[in-house]
Amino acid sequence: MRINILGLNYFYHDSTACIVKDGRLVVALEEERLTRQKHTCMFPQQAIARCLEIAGLTTEDIDHIAISVQPKLDYYKKVAYAFKLGRKMKPFIGAEFLATRSKVNAFYAWLNTTYPNNKKPNIHFVPHHISHVVGSFFVSPYESAALLGVDGSGEWATTFKGIGRANTFQCIDQDFFPMSLGSVYEAATEFCGFKTNYDEGKTMGLAPMGNPETFGKVVSKLFWINEDMSIGVDLSYFNYQYYSRRCGKKFYETFGQPREQKKEAVFEKRHLDVAAAFQKQLEECLLKLARQLHERTHEDYLVVAGGVALNSVANGRIVRESGFKDLYVMPAAGDNGTAIGAAFYVHNSILGQPRAFVHDDPYVGTKYSNSSVLKFLEEFKLDYQYVPDGKLEIMTAELLHRGLIVGWFQGQMEIGPRALGNRSILANPTLPEMKDKINAQVKHREAFRPFAPSCPIEDAPRFFEQNVADPFMLKVCRVLPDKQAVLSAVTHVDGTARLQTVHQETNSRFHKLLKEFEKLSGVPVLLNTSFNVMGEPIVESPVDAIRCFFSTGMDYLVLENYVIRKKMANAF
Ligand SMILES: [Fe+2]
Repeated sequence: MRINILGLNYFYHDSTACIVKDGRLVVALEEERLTRQKHTCMFPQQAIARCLEIAGLTTEDIDHIAISVQPKLDYYKKVAYAFKLGRKMKPFIGAEFLATRSKVNAFYAWLNTTYPNNKKPNIHFVPHHISHVVGSFFVSPYESAALLGVDGSGEWATTFKGIGRANTFQCIDQDFFPMSLGSVYEAATEFCGFKTNYDEGKTMGLAPMGNPETFGKVVSKLFWINEDMSIGVDLSYFNYQYYSRRCGKKFYETFGQPREQKKEAVFEKRHLDVAAAFQKQLEECLLKLARQLHERTHEDYLVVAGGVALNSVANGRIVRESGFKDLYVMPAAGDNGTAIGAAFYVHNSILGQPRAFVHDDPYVGTKYSNSSVLKFLEEFKLDYQYVPDGKLEIMTAELLHRGLIVGWFQGQMEIGPRALGNRSILANPTLPEMKDKINAQVKHREAFRPFAPSCPIEDAPRFFEQNVADPFMLKVCRVLPDKQAVLSAVTHVDGTARLQTVHQETNSRFHKLLKEFEKLSGVPVLLNTSFNVMGEPIVESPVDAIRCFFSTGMDYLVLENYVIRKKMANAF
């Protein structure tokens, strides 16, 4: 029997659509890549249309639609909470209830327009944390595993602890708003002058610049994990429970004035120390949760999902210190991945189908052929050179070895926040000046932010203290002490790196490029950063890539088999 499922996420942020065809993920696309509005929460109309086109389906072929929120879930908990807030309940009710209603209306408006007369697909509103972590488990490589979902909040839950076996799962425990690790970390993000629910990765990157001990004692009493696995938060420091600014008056009295939310605003020592203390305490909390789950479930493996699962430093510590052999985080661990999780929950749990798919390949987006690339190059009257397979990797490796910065646009686009070798900006990681050069000339972003290395999985142990695969850059590890100076442009101040292990089976061209680079430089490692400028989504199309290339200091652009150079760069 044919089963086509359309998975959707758009309630909070990172609107996404995907198609699961007979239990296999055939395409997943974030709406931001098409509308060019980063983290958009608009209904993913364009992503749906492109997903259907790529999957070779029409709307009539869709049997089920899975949406990664259940609007009526925990309704009475929300009402009781709003009444408890007393005089502050009006803005809370306004924000929460109106937003939910407008989201539901947007879906039905689309549904009724799309299916005016015909029979409509079955509609499933899937609880948010089930979409996150149960859905992740269903596409993980594990037959059974402990489950940990952590984010700001879903409908009302903030964490989900459970166990998954085959196509079943059991919830052990949940925490509910305002006991939220994600919201607490957002307060630190806000204090450091970054955008909340958006820039938490910057707080994580800033943390090694500060001293975690300065505020360590006080922060350890702000949020913690109890012996029964529940979250504790001293809400007197925070304001997020009223759905407005995250930091409360007491927060400022304790830590001082926040940094202004401006790129050029100065980082005072207190901002760095707050980032360091909150990051350390978050790691301790997640580690404790993981250890408690390990003791309770006796499982070998852990599946982590939710916005907090994007904290790759904490994930790295869980791998090394929790007792689990390894953990699985899907490449789109944030809300984008809930579209995939909701679809697989419908397939495996609601429809009871056996699991037959592992989401170990992040390249599930749009793709452009050489002929479509050529059309754009001719239209824009650009100089280009066609370079055949094999020679392309050799030539690109030579450019990189010469210290040039290359935009690398290949094959199907990645899902999730990281560029993993198909929509990437690449550079030589052995040149110490490369980090500052790319930050200043290409990415136009804060100087403290580190760049990540990509390395074939078989070569990784020669350079990194990493003995598990990390194809999605989600488990930060240490660079081997004697390799830190060699890989200076991708080693963070604390000696760590957000490594991507590259696998020949899922990205043979990128794998070959790394091997060619090793022949010239002695290291099979490249600096890999996402193909975008600060504040913009990763490029989706050749047009996006060309625009980004000519508006930044990149030297060469490799679009499939076509190589484009800037006039200032050396001749071919
Ligand atoms: Fe979420």
